[in-house]
Amino acid sequence: MRRYKKTTRSYATYLNCVSCGKEYRPDEIDYTCPDCGPWAGTLEICYDYSAVKRQLTRESLRKNRDFSHWRYLPILPVNNPDFIPNLRVGWTPLYRSAMIERELGVGSIWIKDDGQNPSASYKDRASSVAVVRALEKGVQTVTAASTGNAAASWALMTALTDLEAVIFVPERSPKAKLAQLALYGATVLQVKGSYDQAFDLCCQAAEKWGWYNRSTGINPYLGEGKKTGALELCEQLNWQPPDYLFVSVGDGCIFQGVWKGFRDLYRLGLIDRLPRMIGVQAQGSAPLVTAWETGSDRAESIIPRTIADSISVGSPRDQIKALKAVRESDGQFISVSDQEILAAIRGLARKVGVMAEPAGAAAFAGMMKIANQCKFKTSDSIAVIVTGHGLKDIESVMHAAPRQSLLVENDLQDVADCLSRETRQFP
Ligand SMILES: Cc1ncc(COP(=O)(O)O)c(C=O)c1O
Ligand SMILES: [Zn+2]
Repeated sequence: MRRYKKTTRSYATYLNCVSCGKEYRPDEIDYTCPDCGPWAGTLEICYDYSAVKRQLTRESLRKNRDFSHWRYLPILPVNNPDFIPNLRVGWTPLYRSAMIERELGVGSIWIKDDGQNPSASYKDRASSVAVVRALEKGVQTVTAASTGNAAASWALMTALTDLEAVIFVPERSPKAKLAQLALYGATVLQVKGSYDQAFDLCCQAAEKWGWYNRSTGINPYLGEGKKTGALELCEQLNWQPPDYLFVSVGDGCIFQGVWKGFRDLYRLGLIDRLPRMIGVQAQGSAPLVTAWETGSDRAESIIPRTIADSISVGSPRDQIKALKAVRESDGQFISVSDQEILAAIRGLARKVGVMAEPAGAAAFAGMMKIANQCKFKTSDSIAVIVTGHGLKDIESVMHAAPRQSLLVENDLQDVADCLSRETRQFP
């Protein structure tokens, strides 16, 4: 069991509507600003930064032996640390790739492998914070709609509690994600339709039956969990943030959450500059790229089509914050083709040793695309977050593989024949 000094109140003081600026107390509201509605009324959690500053310093972090994202507890909205799941969420590895640096001629390339989280995706950062909130509220039933990873993560976090979880996923989620859901024992509803349809159905059910809803875009606590990737990255880089950060984007929750993390660190004086945020979408599912390119404040809904199921999102639910993040950081949204995503899966596996699902590799594909357009300087420091593990979607990974296995007889001569056909140098 984790041991934390018990506090009765976090330093989260109010929630701020990003559209109208109205402030709400944490006990007053769970989701969005009623004046602005579910899309525009997305809320951001704000802290007593001077109090946090006294608790969270470079020195206190140097001494902190908690190698999970809970090392940043003073800047997380947790009132009762007893509810923190006993799992190692976060503090994921950060790899530097000299091979890719040489290939691209850039200063430094950093790959953060968030497939190493307990349910093998970045979503555990958000689910672990949301489950604490659900337990603090004393609810019985929780829900979420997800393309698959948030669902698996939510099913895991709630399995460790006595919460009932009812989870909505699109009918065609990859098998491995469905296997995770089945194993953790949530009630899983595979909706005959898209993720966007599953999302709307989940919100209707949550409202009708009063379930606590961990769905993206409406739940302000998710971004707080998702910001911890930025906190870790900066600490792992000795408080020198990268010049560019690449993130795969579906709804935009990870993207905006990571940006909030950098802004929090800046306000706390732990970093003295901010990176440019580059959001990467799949070409067949790129409404935020279009909105950004056309200077629009809203993304037009589309029917998504991509191999990257986790970012196959027609109506991005966190679009307001995501568009704000890209503009505030002087960043960019770009799209990559499914072929570029498959090449990125190959590159990450063979040059970095990181196995990624398609959505997890899209950010890397975007980085390679911008590098090949010679847009980086030789001194630039570039970081890429890999958001999901490759074992979550082995069918796609097989498409990315450079070679398939060879079937041989149980016979040494057949092995020799096969190898000489295959390698041309054997024996
Ligand atoms: C592996 C992976 N990468 C990226 C994303 C995109 O996150 P968001 O929808 O918050 O933009 C998801 C979301 O499901 C995901 O599972
Ligand atoms: Zn508002």
